[in-house]
Amino acid sequence: MKPSIAVSSYSAVAHKYDGAANENSFWGELARRSYESIALESSYRVIVDIGCGTGLALHHLRSRAPDTMTLIGIEPAEQMRLLAEQRSAGVAGIEFREGRFEELPLAEASVDYLYSIWALHWTTEPDRAAAEIKRVLKDDGEMDLWFTGLNTGGEFSRKTGEVLRRYVGLEARLRAASVGNAFRSFSSSNAWFRFSIPSA
Ligand SMILES: C[S@@+](CC[C@H](N)C(=O)[O-])C[C@H]1O[C@@H](n2cnc3c(N)ncnc32)[C@H](O)[C@@H]1O
Repeated sequence: MKPSIAVSSYSAVAHKYDGAANENSFWGELARRSYESIALESSYRVIVDIGCGTGLALHHLRSRAPDTMTLIGIEPAEQMRLLAEQRSAGVAGIEFREGRFEELPLAEASVDYLYSIWALHWTTEPDRAAAEIKRVLKDDGEMDLWFTGLNTGGEFSRKTGEVLRRYVGLEARLRAASVGNAFRSFSSSNAWFRFSIPSA
């Protein structure tokens, strides 16, 4: 796989990632709101965070997840992953693996809930990333993807809207949209999305 500039850049700035400047930034605030809004269903056994960075979200979820749930962080940037491992050292039921959207180190149909916060837009091979997500999610698995789209994000909305209407019920679509609208007041020039697939 081609080396990614995004991955080497995140590794290089990893030591600054958890600083106050990032934490108090627009992106830090959105990341915090995103993981705080995650609802952990009691049926989940395996939960995966892709592009988990320094592991803040997973560490937070571990504090409110029952012991029956295993949390796995996937992160390609070595220095980000090391910080995630340090943050959760000695905590049971949480582990970190090297990997990326395009090549997930996970077995087929092994994941109950998959989420990703501000990482999907870094993939250089979206089709491959989508195929990998489909491969690892259980048939009744759920996911939340938070990511940015260029400009107004209209192209993304047009392409996914039709699919969502076909497979996701109205109530679930409205629920996802209302969370998005609450965030939109922060929005910069690029649109951002929470793309949710709840089980039928
Ligand atoms: C903005 S950070 C977000 C980190 C974390 N999710 C958070 O909310 O703090 C983006 C992360 O995506 C990772 N990343 C870059 N390319 C990726 C890819 N192809 N697959 C998965 N993660 C990737 C980066 O290494 C970085 O840790």
